[in-house]
Amino acid sequence: MNTLIAASVLSADFSRLAEEISALSAVDIIHLDLMDGHFVPNLSFGYPLVDCIRKLSDKPLDAHLMVCNPDSYVDGLAQIGVQYLSFHQETVYHPHRLIQQIKAHGIKAGLALNPGTPASSISALLEDLDFVLVMSVNPGYSAQSFIPSAIPKIQELAALRECLNLSFQIEVDGGVSSANAQTLIDAGADILVSASYIFKSKNYTHAINSLKGI
Ligand code: DX5
Ligand code: ZN
Repeated sequence: MNTLIAASVLSADFSRLAEEISALSAVDIIHLDLMDGHFVPNLSFGYPLVDCIRKLSDKPLDAHLMVCNPDSYVDGLAQIGVQYLSFHQETVYHPHRLIQQIKAHGIKAGLALNPGTPASSISALLEDLDFVLVMSVNPGYSAQSFIPSAIPKIQELAALRECLNLSFQIEVDGGVSSANAQTLIDAGADILVSASYIFKSKNYTHAINSLKGI
């Protein structure tokens, strides 16, 4: 499968949002980092901005919930029209129920894993998931350094996927750049998320293509 690139708008210039979004023609997905100031020590944005981005782009939207109560956001995000929705394994008592709730809206359901959370913690859920989001930084901010222990975690998930004959996608988020993109793809990643590498570059299309190895 071709690698998909998801641009995280967390590093975009929100004062020029329409221009920033229209400069993302080469990306496959727009990644939206929703933060509540509790699960992570930062606040980002909520429904009004997601709604604006929905109107500015036809790209699939990928909402990454870094909040303590992800179940409260599923209906609202479904109404706006996101295509991917992930929540953190560390935030919920009943992940299986929430996965079903997301899928009932026709949205791809994903579980996100902090760098300190092992892949084995979600082994019983893999068959229900459309994707697993491997965090390669501690969630909360863009422009942090890549944590290398994400690579064996991606390899472990890819091996489990093959051994169990499953088809969930593996998404990697945090510190992704042209310096590590090919290693992540070789490890088994299907979707690479990038904020600062794309938005700090002079030419977004070149930066996005460099993540694809073009
Ligand atoms: C971190 C977010 C990431 C972040 C990635 O909490 O989930 O999506 O925006 O930023 P970069 O690519 O700059 O590490
Ligand atoms: Zn994210």
